Amino acid sequence: MIKWPYLPQDSGLEIVKSEGAYLYNKDGFKILDAAGGAIVNNIGYGREEVAEVIKISAMNNTYVLPPFLTPEREQLVDELRQHWLPSHLTRIHLSSGGSEANESAIKLAIQYQASRNKPEKKIILTRSLSYHGTTLNMSGISGHAARKRGMESYLPTANTIETPYPLRCPLGKYHPDAKDYYLDNLKKVINNHGAENIAALLMEPVNGSSGGAIYPPDGYWIEAQKILKDHDILLIADEVMTGFGRTGFKFSCEDYGLEPDIMIAGKGMGSGYASISGTYSTEAIAESIMNAGYLVMFHTFAALPMSCAASSAVLKILRRERLCEKVAPLGEKLKERLTSRLGQHPLVAEIRGKGLLVGIEIVKDKEQLVSFDEEEKITEQVVSQGLKEGIFLYPGGTGEYRDIICLGPPYIIGDEEIDLMVDGVEKVLNHIKDKYKI
Ligand SMILES: Cc1ncc(COP(=O)(O)O)c(C=O)c1O
Repeated sequence: MIKWPYLPQDSGLEIVKSEGAYLYNKDGFKILDAAGGAIVNNIGYGREEVAEVIKISAMNNTYVLPPFLTPEREQLVDELRQHWLPSHLTRIHLSSGGSEANESAIKLAIQYQASRNKPEKKIILTRSLSYHGTTLNMSGISGHAARKRGMESYLPTANTIETPYPLRCPLGKYHPDAKDYYLDNLKKVINNHGAENIAALLMEPVNGSSGGAIYPPDGYWIEAQKILKDHDILLIADEVMTGFGRTGFKFSCEDYGLEPDIMIAGKGMGSGYASISGTYSTEAIAESIMNAGYLVMFHTFAALPMSCAASSAVLKILRRERLCEKVAPLGEKLKERLTSRLGQHPLVAEIRGKGLLVGIEIVKDKEQLVSFDEEEKITEQVVSQGLKEGIFLYPGGTGEYRDIICLGPPYIIGDEEIDLMVDGVEKVLNHIKDKYKI
């Protein structure tokens, strides 16, 4: 009988230890975790300091109802406000994961519109290529075909704008008018639905695994934000993967000068030591909901004292060791080495990204950007071959858009790990190239 997971997977492994940037299986085989799990771990695995605060708070303050304050929560809220959050996002709602935090963001947006006597403003726009989580609503509104299969009849329908994808812009690769093309699409979608019916746009400032670090054309986001503002539509930034330094900024909205009305962070907030996420909003949104007398419900395990303590410790380590400052130069080095070694590789359509979120798009025809057939499951083959080579690469792509691998290692890596990543990616790509005789 299969022990785990629910359905068997090629790359199923038993990991018995993790330390620094490495995983170990039960035979002692060492694997470089080039993805920090699901692009979660920023500070490296096995930090005693974090384990210690988890132990203390589990002993001292095991479980407390989320609305009550605890020293652990107070410390985390102070840490977030003083050192991380943009100054206009003053309100904090904690939950246990990215999907929950995104659900909370949508609820806040809808409640906010209702509290202003605009209950008809209830459409949440999302993007054609996107991933916001695995709950029913998030599965429905995300632009990720593969993760909806078999549930399409039940899931809510996504109302999408096109995800700017410079490599695959319908006008042509890196077309000079790409920005205007995608902004026109945003305007058209708003007009089609009617701004009076739209509550918010939920977006990832940079695609996570759905697209593998796709950046829009320069200037797109700031202009898109203006269009949304002019139409009284909230901007909700899902920084579950990009938050807390991943792209070289505290949050990747900073990169574009964006000021989202609501922002979500997860993964790196606990670095894998805690199951914790945050939904951050402006004062105006919270005030309006409060004045209307609406309830903002909590999840039972939101803001567990030990999760808050772990998250504070993680964020303090990031600051003390100045790890976020290392992300941009490490990312540059990684991209440079990947590009010089693999930029011309026949299977590589593009190597993209910033900081330590790098996507590599794999195609069977580099010139025409033709993907392998979906049945070939190239991404799965790449991940499984990578594990044999001692490296874990994160699978990306949406089924419709494929095959993508993502690199998102902890910020503690050095030259040795960069070389291992470049060597590992080269080996797996050559394996596929030889297998398909390309
Ligand atoms: C951008 C983004 N949003 C939301 C989620 C969902 O987070 P979780 O799996 O913690 O529910 C993910 C997870 O990969 C993500 O990358």
